[in-house]
Amino acid sequence: MHFQFMKRLGSTGTIMLELNNKNLLKTEAYIDGQWVSSDKQTAVVNPATGDKIADVTDLSADHARLAIEAAYKAQKEWREKTALERCNILLRWHDLLLENQEDLAQIITAEMGKPIKEARGEIGYGASFIRWFAEEARRVYGDTIPGHMPDKRLMVLKQPIGVAASITPWNFPNAMITRKVAPALAAGCTFVARPSELTPLSALALAELGEQAGIPAGVFNVVTGVDAAAIGLELCTNKMVRKLSFTGSTRVGSLLMEQSAESVKKLSLELGGNAPFIVFDDADLDKAVEGLLIAKFRNSGQTCVCANRIYVQEGIYDEFADRLSQAVLGLKTGDGRDESTHIGPLINDAGLKKVETQLADAVSKGASVKTGGERLAPDQLFFPPTVITNISNDMLFTHEETFGPLAPLYKFTTEQQVIALANDTDFGLASYFYSNDLSRVWKVMEGLEYGMVGVNTGLISTTEAPFGGIKHSGLGREGSHYGLDEYLELKYVCLSV
Ligand code: SIN
Repeated sequence: MHFQFMKRLGSTGTIMLELNNKNLLKTEAYIDGQWVSSDKQTAVVNPATGDKIADVTDLSADHARLAIEAAYKAQKEWREKTALERCNILLRWHDLLLENQEDLAQIITAEMGKPIKEARGEIGYGASFIRWFAEEARRVYGDTIPGHMPDKRLMVLKQPIGVAASITPWNFPNAMITRKVAPALAAGCTFVARPSELTPLSALALAELGEQAGIPAGVFNVVTGVDAAAIGLELCTNKMVRKLSFTGSTRVGSLLMEQSAESVKKLSLELGGNAPFIVFDDADLDKAVEGLLIAKFRNSGQTCVCANRIYVQEGIYDEFADRLSQAVLGLKTGDGRDESTHIGPLINDAGLKKVETQLADAVSKGASVKTGGERLAPDQLFFPPTVITNISNDMLFTHEETFGPLAPLYKFTTEQQVIALANDTDFGLASYFYSNDLSRVWKVMEGLEYGMVGVNTGLISTTEAPFGGIKHSGLGREGSHYGLDEYLELKYVCLSV
């Protein structure tokens, strides 16, 4: 294996990350432009090896309150900057991310296991949100409306909502933060981020680069801590926070919604998915296999938009299953630091057990494993890409998100039947289908009850497009020009002349 960084033990028994820019490895939180610590720390562990890579300060809800107060104080000056001034600071931040792309990618791979090539891609993806919203900052246009009376002039202004906060997951430790903080700062809001306790290092590196870019004290704060419930409660109930953006499970999203009710907060919720991936018999099978490898196995199956239920039309079922199994054999499972790895470890034991439970349930109900099917070693978190056939609707993955590398192939007969099956879920985030029949493409695209549809592609995420779901998959949209509206209020002005 050709690791980019060497295994070296620090004085505390920690495996030292060898970064070019050592300043990027921060273990203190960032509040009001200061690096802050408490007397408690939490270990950050590499899921590929079990090695500790850092001890990060563990803050409480009281610290979250201090961060909110700092953001509140900083808001006036930040919103009064011109859009061009905010844009220029954000563009510097974007450039710094790309200048430090390799180090930031190494941090991601070390703290959550993603293959290094995907980690580099995530930094490009994360930086793209900063650039996009830096550019959008200058186009926050209002409206004038023809008056309803001869002496009335009507206008609509767009103004920053105030202090915004985020709660983000471990699966994209950089991009899920930039997708939220960039539109907030562009709009003139200030921000408090609470990253996953599993992946705080990426968030802290972002804060370090933000400071270098010239983001003023209090404008971007990062509160690290294991007590997600207490910090989350503070972010939800504190009246100074006017907007909360969360990416994570539907269960937690609906709890945060409940907790935010009293302060009538604006919410963006990017929640769970159960994406259907449909292959019709008129599809280009090679392209469908290629698309499925991305839609299913990106980030070892640990994304909210990963294909969860794969529906294959009966006439091509066996051939598709064979071609997919063949393609999957070419995917290497292992330590993400190895340049040749395609599938890294799952994040933790609970993630791995969920995959094993779903697979055991399916096998007990008659499913057949075509490739993969067992963890690589008893004491490690590696699970190979697994193709399963003979799937029935009573199996767990029909209604539960897997968040791992299982590819169950359901057989279907007609277009109407598969649309009904695909929609038979509480979730409505991403969906995919492959067909070369133009009229079918329109009908199926319109019939799928999802916030996002990929037609003849397995990769839909991009900064230019609105990312988000319907039903139990959430509220609001991120990225695209719609993403900025989430951090703006409309003010209607009626002027009598
Ligand atoms: C997610 O899993 O929440 C985000 C995936 C993406 O942006 O593609």
